[in-house]
Amino acid sequence: MMTIPVEFQPIDAANSTHIQEVVNLWNMACGEELAISPRFVTYNLRPSPGGDQAACLAWHEGRPVGFVSTSYLNDPTVAAPHSGWIDAIAVAPDAQRNGIGTALLQWAEAWHHQKGTQIMTVGASLRPFVPGVPEELNSVGFFERHGYGGKPELAIREWDVAANLATYTPPRTVREIDGLVRPAQPRDYEAILAFLQREFPDRWRYEFEQSVAEGTRIADFMVLWTERGVDGCCMLTFEDSHHPIERFYPYRLPRPWGQLGSIGVSEDRRGQGFGAALLDAGLRRLHNNGVNGCVIDWTNLLDFYGKFGFTPYRSYLILSKPLEPKP
Ligand SMILES: CC(C)(COP(=O)(O)OP(=O)(O)OC[C@H]1O[C@@H](n2cnc3c(N)ncnc32)[C@H](O)[C@@H]1OP(=O)(O)O)[C@@H](O)C(=O)NCCC(=O)NCCS
Repeated sequence: MMTIPVEFQPIDAANSTHIQEVVNLWNMACGEELAISPRFVTYNLRPSPGGDQAACLAWHEGRPVGFVSTSYLNDPTVAAPHSGWIDAIAVAPDAQRNGIGTALLQWAEAWHHQKGTQIMTVGASLRPFVPGVPEELNSVGFFERHGYGGKPELAIREWDVAANLATYTPPRTVREIDGLVRPAQPRDYEAILAFLQREFPDRWRYEFEQSVAEGTRIADFMVLWTERGVDGCCMLTFEDSHHPIERFYPYRLPRPWGQLGSIGVSEDRRGQGFGAALLDAGLRRLHNNGVNGCVIDWTNLLDFYGKFGFTPYRSYLILSKPLEPKP
């Protein structure tokens, strides 16, 4: 393979030209069905609370030919200690297979060596562009060559599932429950947080706090109340939500678009129809708001969502590798 020389330029997320270069490179490399916008890139190119992020463009002969964004968090309440992610990487199609992707990956890994990162993952980052490598891109081989996904437990397949909610009717799985599901209200914040701290204390709790602090409407959450308080919660995304709907790449689905997830109920309340009731209430709310194409992202519960009419829409491989300390 020929290797062409590149120069690295740190990406400044406040620079709209840099943002546009990232958009162009990603859209050229990944195509229309995975297209991103400047708003989405601006949303994603900033560190998450307690974490750090770095991104760069690779230049060759006066034009940007690739970029990488990478992030780091050492917060064992959220993820494995010293976790690192490749948030996104792309090389312009006419510049691929010239060693540029390798150079960008090495740039990112060098940054992580300085941080002391112990485990690297492609996709699935705290501000995800994608939950893993979209299998339709046929680029898994590139990451495998660089040591990612070397063992079965380091290559996890996840799906987005989707349905057209235009004709949504609750399946028979949905039963009467001893509880109530309704949109969350601002005064529910503490009760939802207490539920998440008890039942989903790591990443989901972290993302709830982060997203609300950054401007997500509390009403974008659905809450399940029982006699003891909040026993379940799920998040919705609408086209006008703070959290960009493009994150779910709904373009093959009929508009208006919506999304549902994460969704969870208390461990000791599972298997009693609460999850189905919560999911049904979320889907009815999306339907009643006119949503047609709906994505439930980043899941392996194909049978559970299948009962509600959802079929596989896109698959990803979440590839990881331990990062060896540099001598
Ligand atoms: C993945 C990508 C960044 C690789 O960039 P690149 O500059 O073409 O990669 P390199 O030239 O450095 O390739 C390094 C090695 O990987 C191999 N490789 C590159 N792309 C490959 C692919 N799609 N499948 C299998 N192997 C691949 C090369 O042949 C080379 O192998 P060698 O070292 O044995 O010669 C680029 O193909 C791309 O932008 N793809 C679309 C975006 C994408 O899939 N991003 C991942 C989601 S975050």
